[in-house]
Amino acid sequence: MLEIEDLHVQYGSIEALHGISLKVEKGEMVALLGANGAGKSTTLMSIMRLPPPEAPRVTQGRIVYKGVDLLPIAAHQVVAEHKIALVPEGRRVFGNMTVLENLELATYARKDRAQVQKDYERVFSLFPRMADRKHQRVDTLSGGEQQMLATGRAFMSGADFILLDEPSMGLAPLLMQELFKVLQDLNRSGTTIFVVEQNAHIALSYAHRAYLMEAGRIVMEGKAAALAENPEIQKAYLG
Ligand SMILES: Nc1ncnc2c1ncn2[C@@H]1O[C@H](COP(=O)(O)OP(=O)(O)OP(=O)(O)O)[C@@H](O)[C@H]1O
Ligand SMILES: [Mg+2]
Repeated sequence: MLEIEDLHVQYGSIEALHGISLKVEKGEMVALLGANGAGKSTTLMSIMRLPPPEAPRVTQGRIVYKGVDLLPIAAHQVVAEHKIALVPEGRRVFGNMTVLENLELATYARKDRAQVQKDYERVFSLFPRMADRKHQRVDTLSGGEQQMLATGRAFMSGADFILLDEPSMGLAPLLMQELFKVLQDLNRSGTTIFVVEQNAHIALSYAHRAYLMEAGRIVMEGKAAALAENPEIQKAYLG
């Protein structure tokens, strides 16, 4: 579904990714692990083609999605035509609007209105907290609830591929489990998921496969269960 090949990316004159390669197959849930500054968010932003000045500049390599080269494509087209959605670091939901209004905004580009109605039902059954708080202003939701809303919004965009940037950040352990269970549910019903995480423990317990990134390079990859057993990973990331 997604194939990144020898990707080099720069901010200004400084290279942040030194030739990374990775793959996400349709139906998979894949995690990208690594410490602060490893290049995880940069990888996601490169896929989403965010507009400058936020966008990291790709200097070499390829990003191919369902056989289409994404590099020449603008960010809004990636979302609308290629059905990829990003749940960014820090959520970026609209605080002065209600839960329902935030979800509605995500559907504006969709033409499959009948499916949109079904997706609302699905989102509210996956996130009962959102159903209870439909008309609540989003800036009064807890941090964890805002993370759920951000994830629900990605789903409401009609995406069949969802990228998440550190969804567990700031969540209490129970809420983290709740969120990853929803991601697993979404994944099992057909949404492909690529999740960036510093929390290797939670990511490896839910993902099928994972990549480990250090200083702009992929240094390890494999089945999640195998990585969880790897002594180096255990020492550095699992405590
Ligand atoms: N807009 C920017 N301009 C210049 N350098 C940047 C910019 N954004 C990121 N970088 C640099 O690129 C490198 C990778 O950053 P990135 O945000 O991708 O890391 P990360 O793995 O997501 O880290 P974290 O876990 O802390 O979010 C870092 O050295 C960072 O300082
Ligand atoms: Mg980051």
